[in-house]
Amino acid sequence: MASGTGDTSTGYVLGSTDREMARLAAISRLYRPLTEAWLDSAGLRRGMTVVDLGCGPGDVALAVAGRVGPTGRVLGLDEAVRPLELARRRADEQGLAQVSFERADVTRWEPDGPVDAVVGRCILLHLPDPVGLVRRLAGALGPGAVVAFADVVLVTRAAQPPLPLLDAHARWFVETLRRSGRPVDMGLRLAGVFRAAGLPEPVLTTDSPLERGGEAVGWSIVAGDVTSLLPVLERTGVTTAEEVGPATFEQRLRAQAAEHDAVLVNPLVVGAATRVP
Ligand SMILES: C[S@@+](CC[C@H](N)C(=O)[O-])C[C@H]1O[C@@H](n2cnc3c(N)ncnc32)[C@H](O)[C@@H]1O
Repeated sequence: MASGTGDTSTGYVLGSTDREMARLAAISRLYRPLTEAWLDSAGLRRGMTVVDLGCGPGDVALAVAGRVGPTGRVLGLDEAVRPLELARRRADEQGLAQVSFERADVTRWEPDGPVDAVVGRCILLHLPDPVGLVRRLAGALGPGAVVAFADVVLVTRAAQPPLPLLDAHARWFVETLRRSGRPVDMGLRLAGVFRAAGLPEPVLTTDSPLERGGEAVGWSIVAGDVTSLLPVLERTGVTTAEEVGPATFEQRLRAQAAEHDAVLVNPLVVGAATRVP
């Protein structure tokens, strides 16, 4: 399988800092049940060749590796170098020789050999033309191939009682993504994307994990959102580093949550899976 690698960044707005890697690790932990249910619904089997688009540190690729087994093959693609290094290290540590990772811009990548499935979690949100990508890949893969994407509905995050810092995060984060032209409800658009790409109605799986108190994993994701996005927040004029206070943001947010024993509804994530007719 060749990769259409290129050095032109397509502008992933959250970068690949330590903070962003920690944010992705927290997302991984919180959404493991949804990820397993989504991959189950995709019907991945032993021996399959699967490509994970926008693989980041490899969470989905590693989960897929267990399903396809040692006779299968998994290729994770990402345009950023750091997450790929982390992903390779994790695969080595777990002794998963069937997994490899390559640098590629998924908007230009094309398979050059048989591929049984393409999967991707939280990637379509970041692409300029999700329908075009899904249509092109479905055509390249051919009949029977699995197409499975999962994405988030960012606007569904909420706390009870409302917390001032979470409200500030919602204003900054959602507004910045809107100004960057990224849909904040991509999970709700997946079925429409599949339909517009000429695919059959996908099986949908969803989760919106509920947590409580100052120790919730979701607070790391909220804090990671603002610190990873800070350069863009400042560039788009949404807020300033001084107002955000990135060094203490998470600590202050957790203190507010603990003080009010707040319930956190983490954003809804939707998984969609179907097969090329
Ligand atoms: C939100 S992260 C999700 C990572 C991983 N799929 C997960 O669920 O943990 C999005 C990833 O997509 C990558 N990305 C964004 N645009 C890309 C593109 N055009 N080609 C390849 N990777 C891209 C980013 O570098 C980042 O690692």
